[in-house]
Amino acid sequence: MKKTKRTLLTILMMALVVSIFAGCAKNDAAPGGTTTDTATGKDLVLGFAQIGMESGWRGAETDSIKETFAPGSGFELKFSDGQQKQENQIKAIRTFIAQKVDAIGLAPIVESGWETVLQEAKDAGIPVFLLDRGITAGNEDLYTSFIGSDFIAEGENVAKWLINEVGTGKTANIVELEGTVGASAANDRKKGFDDAIKAEPGFKITKSQTAEFTLAKGKEVMESFLKADKTIDVVYAHNDDMALGAIQAIEEAGLKPGTDILVLSIDGVKGAFEAIKEGKLNVTQECNPLLGPQLKQAILDVKAGKALDKWIKSDEDIYFGQKAIDALPDRKY
Ligand code: AHR
Repeated sequence: MKKTKRTLLTILMMALVVSIFAGCAKNDAAPGGTTTDTATGKDLVLGFAQIGMESGWRGAETDSIKETFAPGSGFELKFSDGQQKQENQIKAIRTFIAQKVDAIGLAPIVESGWETVLQEAKDAGIPVFLLDRGITAGNEDLYTSFIGSDFIAEGENVAKWLINEVGTGKTANIVELEGTVGASAANDRKKGFDDAIKAEPGFKITKSQTAEFTLAKGKEVMESFLKADKTIDVVYAHNDDMALGAIQAIEEAGLKPGTDILVLSIDGVKGAFEAIKEGKLNVTQECNPLLGPQLKQAILDVKAGKALDKWIKSDEDIYFGQKAIDALPDRKY
């Protein structure tokens, strides 16, 4: 009788051990951050739909993704360059769904128009991660997490820097170089800046136009602003590339950027820090493009069954003067 009981107990314990191991095998996240699907022994597949290559910042983000998900990382990366077209990004997502990838990363060029394709990914059970730009509010159930910056705060910080620099109760004629029409980065950076300068009735945005986040367009639009208006005190560019283009236009017009016209921007790329050192750019609000590691961790967490924050925010700072010069040697992108 005693012997039968012991045998039964042994069988039960063995069954328990086997079931624990079976459970682990379904879990993709292994300690130390390697990520193979232990059930199949294969790498996890990430499909990433990038916007294109409009700026130095975008290049740094692409590099970060390619480095993080390189061979040996436990992932296979399927990377698509959307060439600045939403339709290309949508097509890429549909291809990823057909290929049954394990996760999809998307940097949405504009905020609207994603509902149908993201619903298709959701129906296929594929988690979607938005990287750096958001989509229209109200669609939060269509993606797992948004990883990126607070664009409204970025615009606000630049405006506060300007108010502090010029002084309260003063006047300033400001021209604005906006990012891609309909992009969350452009909409929110405009909102943050515009709302913050309302505190100063003498600060006026006299002209505002898109320059599509590119250096060439930044130069072109600034040239037209300078021809039409001789009273510009400040240019606020939604990214560094447009600011660097504006600097060229200001110089070609025979004026001193950073002195005759204050130049303010967002991103914090190396070229902007160099321009601050040369006295041509006054301030850049950092926007972190190195999002690959955070994306990888988020996918690992989801695969491990962990609940994620809806918004995984990046750490960022504002740079001007000596602080930017000191940070220049360590700036990698
Ligand atoms: O979405 C982030 C913005 O897109 C960056 O500020 C800009 O440089 C990029 O192209």
